[in-house]
This record gives sequence, structure tokens and C-alpha cells, in this order.
Amino acid sequence: MKILAIETSCDETACAVTEGGPSTSSGLRILSNIVSSSEAMHRQTGGIVPEVAAREQLKAIIPIIDKAIQDSRFKIHDIDAMAVTAGPGLVGSLLVGVETARALAYAWGKPIIPVNHLVAHLYANFVSEIPKFPAVGLVVSGGHTDLVFMEGHRKLRLLGTTRDDAAGECFDKCSRWLQLGYPGGPAIAAEAAKFLKRSDLVGKQQGPTLPRPMIDDDTYDFSFSGLKTALRRFAPQGKPLQGLVAEIAHELQEAIVEVLVKRVVRAVEEFKPKSVLLGGGVASNNRLRQLLKSEIRNSKHETKLFIPPIELCTDNAVMIGTAAFYNYSPIPWQKVKANPGLEIV
Ligand code: KG4
Ligand code: ZN
Repeated sequence: MKILAIETSCDETACAVTEGGPSTSSGLRILSNIVSSSEAMHRQTGGIVPEVAAREQLKAIIPIIDKAIQDSRFKIHDIDAMAVTAGPGLVGSLLVGVETARALAYAWGKPIIPVNHLVAHLYANFVSEIPKFPAVGLVVSGGHTDLVFMEGHRKLRLLGTTRDDAAGECFDKCSRWLQLGYPGGPAIAAEAAKFLKRSDLVGKQQGPTLPRPMIDDDTYDFSFSGLKTALRRFAPQGKPLQGLVAEIAHELQEAIVEVLVKRVVRAVEEFKPKSVLLGGGVASNNRLRQLLKSEIRNSKHETKLFIPPIELCTDNAVMIGTAAFYNYSPIPWQKVKANPGLEIV
């Protein structure tokens, strides 16, 4: 089955054609995967301006769909179904994808499957392999930090979520405070890497020790807004950081990553899943990938860890097509609606 998938929840406009079938034993084939981003415009304003993102989506959507079809080397009549991100996300951005997909599904006479963007981040792990259930999944994106237990497709249970800021949001807000720009995750990671290269600095801490929020809490919830507050207390606006930016970025990355990894390892020991799935933009963080791998290897329960390749961690349409394939449930195009506040379960 060939699915044409569209993703426009935030500042990426993405379209992909994926192929899978009943005999698929090793995941899906990616026939095309196009992602265009208005990130450069948001860099100038230090964060996303929703109106600007939506306008850029409008400009990009048709050429991106056209390119994805061309790259797949198939024709519109070869496509079996369409999939589109229904939410969560920015309302203006979502509407561009949803309305375009509805119109095309009607005009082309194709079934259409609305997809939950957060669930789809976990399905980025089902592209080249098929993880076994039950699974524990962690979605770490710009607006969400959700830990779930998956007994099977469409059988998700929320274990914990953030009580305030998401992990990605914490990276983004702290990066802005440290004047490292947008998006914050890659900027903080790059500064942290600079710190680690300075062997003369490692072990000679001059900056603050940041808290590891809720690390010993016995729920599966998260809280990241205190990190931003601790940072601001140490470095009030205008106070020179005396060359400590790289050290602080490193400490911040350690604090966020340690909390995330500890939660996942505890869930693995309690729920004994066959697989652990990581997903979302923050999953492209090298330190998170590395620490999670080593802690899962050392955990008391043996399980298989899946982490998507970097290009499938940040927003893309391959994960939307994949989620639609494994949760194939088309609905009439008239009923497909943008839902900015959609939750993971
Ligand atoms: O999943 P995503 O692309 O979009 C949303 O659905 O929100 O995630 C974007 C988030 C941003 O907060 C960004 O700063 C973060 O992912 N991010 C990273 C890295 N790359 C992107 N965070 C930490 N380290 C990275 N290398
Ligand atoms: Zn996302």
C-alpha cells in the first residue's frame, strides 16, 4: 500500500510517499521524503511566530506535495491512501495541511487517515524494523514530553507527562536566555560539545549546578520550568557570563538528559517491555541517545531500544505515513479536522 502523507504541524512543511504491505516483515519503504522549513525566518525573531509559519506553509505545500509525488516515481492514481497530521500543533499551520489533504482526497477519490503527530513520532521507529509490543515510548518534542506504555497499535496508556514546560521548550527558552538562538536544542548541544572539547575546563566547574527536577519522584511526570528559573537566577539579564556559556549549556543538557533517561529506565524495570521507543525532535540529541543506550544496556530487564535516524526525529511526513499504515482507519474526508490541542492518548 502506497500512502501519501502530509505534515504541517509547526514550521516544517513535509510530504512523503511510503510503501508497505501485508507481507512487510521489515518495516516500510520510503519512496520519497521532502521537508521544507521556515526555521531560518524564526531564527531572526528568536522563536516561532505562528502567523509567519502558517503563511510559509501556504506557499510551500503544493510544490512540496508535487515534488514528493515526482520523487516517488509513481503517479497519483498509484497512491492508495492519504494521511495527514490532525494535531497537536499550531492551528494555522495544521489547517494548511488538513485542508489541502481533504481537498486532494476528495478530488482524487482517495481514503484519508488523520494522524496524531505525537504518536507518529514513535512510529518513526517502525520504518526500517518492526518493534515488538509491549513497548515503552518517550516522545520528547518542542511542546510535549510524554511517556507511554504501548500494548499494541492503538493501545496506548499515558504513564507520565510534563507538568509545565516540555524538554524541547526548556532547551529553546534557555537558549534564548543564553542568547544562543533558535532552535535551542541544537544550539545548546553545540555549546555543550565545545565545553567537552576544552579538557582544561572539564572537572573545574565555575558555573551553577542545575537541579535534576523530580528525578527521585515516584510518578512518571516531568517538570522542566525550574531549570529555566535556576538559570535566570544564576545569570540575571545583562550579567556577563564570563565565558561560562558553554559550561552552562553542558550542565543544562546533562540535567535534562539525566531526568529523561532515569524515567525511561524506571519504566523499563517496572513494565518489562520488549521494546523501548524514543521519538521527537529532542531525540536527535546525541547525549540523550548515548546515555539512553548505555543505561538500557545496563538495566535489570533486557529490552530492545529503538531510536530513529536523526532525520526522522524532527518533524517529517514519513512518520505520518508509517503511523497511518500501522493504524489504518480512513474516515470520510468531511470528518478530518485540525485539532491543535490533541493529546497523545
Ligand atoms: O519534534 P520537533 O521537530 O517539533 C515538535 O513537534 O515540537 O521538536 C522540536 C524540538 C525543539 O524544541 C528543538 O529545540 C528540539 O526539538 N531539538 C533538540 C535537538 N534538535 C532539535 N533538542 C536537543 N538536542 C538537539 N540536537
Ligand atoms: Zn514533532
